[in-house]
Amino acid sequence: MIHPFKGPLVTQTLRGLSENEPFHWRGDRPDLESFNDTFEDLMGGKRLSEPGMKLFKRFLLSLEFSANPNLTLMGSLPEMIAGGDPRRGFDLYKNHKFFEGFKCGSCHSRPSGGNKAVLDAGSFLLSQPFKIPHLRNLYKKTDFDQSPGAESFSGFGLAPDGSFDTMSHYLSQPFFGNIRDDESIKIDLNAYLLCFDTGTAPAVGHTVTISPGIRDLEGRLMRIQILQEQAELRGIDLVGLGVISGRRQGLIYWPKTARYHFDNSNQEPLTLEGLIHFAEQGSGITLMGVPPGSGLRMGIDRNQDGIPNGNSGFPEVRIQRTGGKVLLQWSASALSYRLEQSSVFFQPLWLPIPDPPELNGNNFQVEFPISDSDMMFRLVSNGLILGAR
Ligand code: HEC
Repeated sequence: MIHPFKGPLVTQTLRGLSENEPFHWRGDRPDLESFNDTFEDLMGGKRLSEPGMKLFKRFLLSLEFSANPNLTLMGSLPEMIAGGDPRRGFDLYKNHKFFEGFKCGSCHSRPSGGNKAVLDAGSFLLSQPFKIPHLRNLYKKTDFDQSPGAESFSGFGLAPDGSFDTMSHYLSQPFFGNIRDDESIKIDLNAYLLCFDTGTAPAVGHTVTISPGIRDLEGRLMRIQILQEQAELRGIDLVGLGVISGRRQGLIYWPKTARYHFDNSNQEPLTLEGLIHFAEQGSGITLMGVPPGSGLRMGIDRNQDGIPNGNSGFPEVRIQRTGGKVLLQWSASALSYRLEQSSVFFQPLWLPIPDPPELNGNNFQVEFPISDSDMMFRLVSNGLILGAR
């Protein structure tokens, strides 16, 4: 039963809603669609149509948390924060039983720290039913100060009603059993929670500029290498922008080739070494980590039409016979395309080529032994299809 007198509750963030139902502190809204009533009941407007709600939902789900600035660039826990050891805090969070066999992670179990479960009023000393909330924005809830005479930068702090100013006070509630009087445990748990991963890698939004005569090149190279690693490990995208040969050029780091690919087919993809050399000749390049999946748009293909910004036409597949083999080549800037093949002429059965293409100069290429049967090839990107036979 949900009691109608819920009392004051802090407005929750609209970020990170994906997979976070049911919504609100008490879990009283099963899904985003159920908020359609709010347009009428609370805002005095009209409900959205079904397609309108779909669009609105897509927009809401796209709002993600930015990276937690307390994590290192690699996404690991720092050694010390707010006087505590976040690594010990993490260990306590996962393993320390503080009340009837419960650990923090028993309830705050999903990557977000949340859980879809709603606990009953009365259980775990709760005054009303509460959903187990995510913990991704705790580091932003530190500006509330209730001490006498304090200048508080926020009107509320932790817990559904925002009444706790510090983690230490929050964790001193009777429910927190054997840790509520242990200051050292509370300090380390606080340190860990201040670093809680928001789901966005800290490398997202991080920029490094290389320009002629730059000082501290080594430090910058180290950070670029971390960005490249994060592109492999966490799937962030790494893009760049610079004026090279008098022209504004975009680029993207492609982990599969370990090269920087440019937005025009004349420019050969470069290794990091080659890129530094290039940046030092021209007016410099700024690299930036960007959210997974946004790199092609932000780096080389602004309008996402499959044609990189600096090119004028669709990439073409060139096919030629060399010895007993067939050689297929296409531009190395056509990163949003993949090559498919079929040996069936009528009603072709298109299959991706098994091996990744090789990089040769400013082209991708694949070689096939010549066969007796027909072979057809095509490049496919976002529904655009370009073929060769
Ligand atoms: C039995 C399940 C359960 C366990 C175990 C649990 N929590 Fe929670 N937690 C909740 C619920 C439910 C809420 C929301 C209601 C409340 O705060 O009273 C909550 C809220 C919180 C909040 C406030 C979040 C905010 O945005 O204001 C923090 C911080 C928190 N928990 C930390 C912890 C830590 C640290 C531990 C381990 C020491 C822990 N919790 C163990 C269920 C649990």
